[in-house]
Amino acid sequence: MNRGARIPFCLNGETIARMREVLAAADYSELGIYHRLQAEDAVRFEPREIPRLMEMTRRKTPLDIFIRLFLLGAPVPVGAASGAVAPMALDDWTDEGLLSADGDAVRAPLQLVPASRLLVAFDPSTRHGVVEAQPDHVHGLGMSSLNLLNGTIRREVGAALDLGTGCGIQGLVCARHSRRVISTDVNPRALNIARFNAMLNGLENILFREGSRFDPVERERFDLILMNPPFAISPDRRFWFRDGGMAGDGFVKALITEAPAHLNEGGFCQITAQWAHRRGEAWTDRLKRWLEGSGCDAWVLRMKTQNPETYAANWISETEKNSPQAYRERWRGWMAYFEASGIEAVSTGMIALRRRPSIDNDFWVTEDVESIGDGAGAAFYRGFLLRDFVRRTRDAAWLDTAFTLAPEIRIEKSLTPGMPGWALEKIILRHLGGIRFAGQLDGRMIDLLGRCDGSTPLGHLVDALAETMGTDRGDIVASVLGVMRNLVARGFVLPPGIL
Ligand SMILES: C[S@@+](CC[C@H](N)C(=O)[O-])C[C@H]1O[C@@H](n2cnc3c(N)ncnc32)[C@H](O)[C@@H]1O
Repeated sequence: MNRGARIPFCLNGETIARMREVLAAADYSELGIYHRLQAEDAVRFEPREIPRLMEMTRRKTPLDIFIRLFLLGAPVPVGAASGAVAPMALDDWTDEGLLSADGDAVRAPLQLVPASRLLVAFDPSTRHGVVEAQPDHVHGLGMSSLNLLNGTIRREVGAALDLGTGCGIQGLVCARHSRRVISTDVNPRALNIARFNAMLNGLENILFREGSRFDPVERERFDLILMNPPFAISPDRRFWFRDGGMAGDGFVKALITEAPAHLNEGGFCQITAQWAHRRGEAWTDRLKRWLEGSGCDAWVLRMKTQNPETYAANWISETEKNSPQAYRERWRGWMAYFEASGIEAVSTGMIALRRRPSIDNDFWVTEDVESIGDGAGAAFYRGFLLRDFVRRTRDAAWLDTAFTLAPEIRIEKSLTPGMPGWALEKIILRHLGGIRFAGQLDGRMIDLLGRCDGSTPLGHLVDALAETMGTDRGDIVASVLGVMRNLVARGFVLPPGIL
């Protein structure tokens, strides 16, 4: 097959299936690499570690050879590479595009990395200055990819959409719990790599379509829409993976406002995003306005907020390999753009939508999310159920309900020197579940919370608290319910039936 200059793979199904067998026989997998390199996170390392990792792969078994080629980016002599790919011919691998000849050696033009029990090819990282990013660069698994992977609500669904698929990762993992996945991208090079990845992993229920935003799925609806889009806010239009091509956070806004029309009833859309804080306007109001009349409940999780100086420097250092002067000029350009656009800060986070046509759709924000880790998908789903509970449960029913403390919560007390001894400064309630965040707690609620054992109705706990405080139930019930609503909505305390 005739490939364009920057289209890496030939996509020969039979060859790719045999490659899968060869890689599996070598144990080129998360576990195999972990055992060989004795590293917690074997696929993430600094360039200065390469000599040490070359040493650890000196026995040159097929696994060692594949680690050198696909993780370390090292050239391997033709003889050693031929031995590793046997019984296939080395030409099969170079013809397909996974390896390329380099004198007496071969190299891997792309990385091939195990993740989520898959093997995923993408372009080598540009961060460490080895590779100059091209406009059609296909990014590897960055923090936002991992947040979305961890945070995806993994229910069995009919149709799923991975918009802006890049190397294909979100769609590939979705294919395990979706009857049919559509993965789209504007970058033909990304689609070629994503197709290769689907074939290498033997996944046959993914359709790939080229096009911008929702154009390739104009009249279609989905049970799950995943988007990790090019969300950077900048004056640049240089890289498909980074620059959405609209002013400010306009690209993210366009996706969020267009997505609801493509969701089935009860369907979820999850998007990683960055949004601007504009002068004179609360950012929460802006996001809320985007979603007005959308027919979706919306949950915004804010992970961090950066000033323009830091924000620009972080993005530019990922791709800018020019002189320090050129770096400074680009940074200045971004700063001037932020100033002219009234952008005072930028937040990073995730937004989840659930289609529930109603006149009173819910919108809520969780601030200071520390991480979106393993198990976050279940936490996202539970978050929507908890908000439903809070919205529909009347006060009297709250008092009859026996709540349970979520097992993943911890309480931290901070004490300051008192006169004499220690004085309680604050009590922090931490949620260590898939979505990690913290909140402050009124000291009087600690005992009440500790007694949320799943069998004692809240009313009894309020009575006990009133007695301790020497007051009437009626004096405290409204404030306790207010705190409990907040704690339940945030998943610190769970009603029956929601775990
Ligand atoms: C940050 S990458 C995400 C890749 C992958 N989904 C992940 O989670 O790692 C963003 C992807 O969106 C694609 N993209 C950029 N503009 C787009 C548009 N207008 N419509 C659809 N996809 C677009 C880029 O080509 C790139 O592959």
